Amino acid sequence: MKHSGKFIVLEGPDGSGKTTQIGRIETYLRERGVDFISTREPGGVLVAEKIRSVILDVDNAMSGLTECLLYAAARREHLMQKVLPALEQGKTVICDRYIMSSLSYQGYGRELGEAVLDINKRAINVNGAEYWPDMNIYLDVTPEIGLQRIHAKHAGREINRLDLEAEEFHRRVREGYLRLIREYEAQFTTVDASQSEDKVFADIKEVLESLLFPN
Ligand SMILES: Nc1ncnc2c1ncn2[C@@H]1O[C@H](COP(=O)(O)OP(=O)(O)OP(=O)(O)O)[C@@H](O)[C@H]1O
Ligand SMILES: [Mg+2]
Repeated sequence: MKHSGKFIVLEGPDGSGKTTQIGRIETYLRERGVDFISTREPGGVLVAEKIRSVILDVDNAMSGLTECLLYAAARREHLMQKVLPALEQGKTVICDRYIMSSLSYQGYGRELGEAVLDINKRAINVNGAEYWPDMNIYLDVTPEIGLQRIHAKHAGREINRLDLEAEEFHRRVREGYLRLIREYEAQFTTVDASQSEDKVFADIKEVLESLLFPN
């Protein structure tokens, strides 16, 4: 399926600033007159938002594989109901997390390895084509900084089931991202997200300019 819109994903550990930066990206894209939608995973469409609340509920104990399958189910519905239709209309899609989050959190964090890739390749395959992002903008922070931001007073966000994982889990997640960047080099741009919000956005803007307005 041909489409002219770009599929751009914000990736990174908890508290790296993805949601904050997406707010700024929206303002920038509006100013630049880009036809876009902004969405998030897990969620973005009703059934996927329902799956999200099951995954993130602190009362729901579940195996790593179940968690992986739930994320993949939410991903597929979100892709089919929202992302693909937008891309087919030529819109740019800005998404808070996508497949690389599963490869890092479930693949490395939960140590499920290759099973996560197999499951997700099925989840992002529509009519024989796998829908990988045009670019993953990876916001890099250490777990210390990320978790400190999330737990800071007035962080404006509920603490969820994955936040409560041991520090070792979050360390594996970041290590996982760093490995994925080496493995899928062409799909990633890394931004140092320990910088100020303004500086992080300036770096992101450069990436967007070169993707959306080449030359
Ligand atoms: N560059 C920054 N410097 C300092 N604090 C920041 C920066 N960017 C975001 N924050 C703050 O850190 C907290 C987490 O940011 P945000 O919710 O955007 O992260 P996130 O990557 O979306 O996290 P999650 O993966 O948990 O959804 C917020 O309180 C936000 O205001
Ligand atoms: Mg967020």
